[in-house]
Amino acid sequence: MTLCLATRNAHKLEEIRAKLGNRFRLISLDDVGCTEELPETTDTIPGNSLQKAQFVFEHYNVACVADDSGLEIDALGGAPGVHSAYYAGPQRSHEDNIQKVLGELRNTTQRSAQFRTVLTLVTANGMQVFEGILRGNILQEPRGKNGFGYDPIFQPEGIDLSLAQLSMEEKNEISHRARAIEKLVSYFQTNSL
Ligand code: IMP
Repeated sequence: MTLCLATRNAHKLEEIRAKLGNRFRLISLDDVGCTEELPETTDTIPGNSLQKAQFVFEHYNVACVADDSGLEIDALGGAPGVHSAYYAGPQRSHEDNIQKVLGELRNTTQRSAQFRTVLTLVTANGMQVFEGILRGNILQEPRGKNGFGYDPIFQPEGIDLSLAQLSMEEKNEISHRARAIEKLVSYFQTNSL
C-alpha cells in the first residue's frame, strides 16, 4: 500500500518512514509527480493541513498525509499560528520572525506558548486528524544554535534549555511533530489505509 507524505523535505519523510516501519510504501510529492506548490490558503493550521492532503488525494489519486505546524503564543491570542513561517514578512526570515515576537512580548511577563502540529490523513475512506502539542515558554532572548524557526526562543516545559540547545535526537523525542506522528503510527496499528 502506498501513502504519500505531502512534503519535499527529505528529513520529514525519513522521520515518518522510520516510525511507520515498512507497513507502507511512503512516497513524497516528487514521487507522485507533483511539482506545483500545494495550496495553503485557509486561516488555520488544521485547515491548511487538510487542504494540502485533500489536494494531493484528489489530483494524484493516492492516500495522503499532510502536516502543518506553527507557534501559538497565549499573550498574542495564538499568533503567529498559521502565519508562523512569514510572521515578519514574505522574506520568511527566522531571525526577523524571532525579533518580531520578542518585540511584541517586551512588556509582558506572560510568556506561555505552544508548538502545534496537525497531520491530516485523507484516503478513499475519509479523513483522520492527529495533533501534537509541545507546551513551553518564550525566552527573553535567543539561546542555542540547533534546530530552526523559533527554536532559539522556545523553552519546553520542564526543561532548562531552549529547543535550539537540544540535539536533533533530543528534540525529536519531545517535539509537537513527533507527538502527532506517534498518534498516526498508533492509528495504523489498528487501521489500514
Ligand atoms: P511547517 O508547517 O512545518 O512548515 O512550519 C511552519 C512554520 O512554523 C515554520 O516555518 C517555523 O517558523 C514554525 N515551526 C514549525 N515547527 C517548528 C519547530 O519545530 N521549531 C521552530 N519553529 C517551528
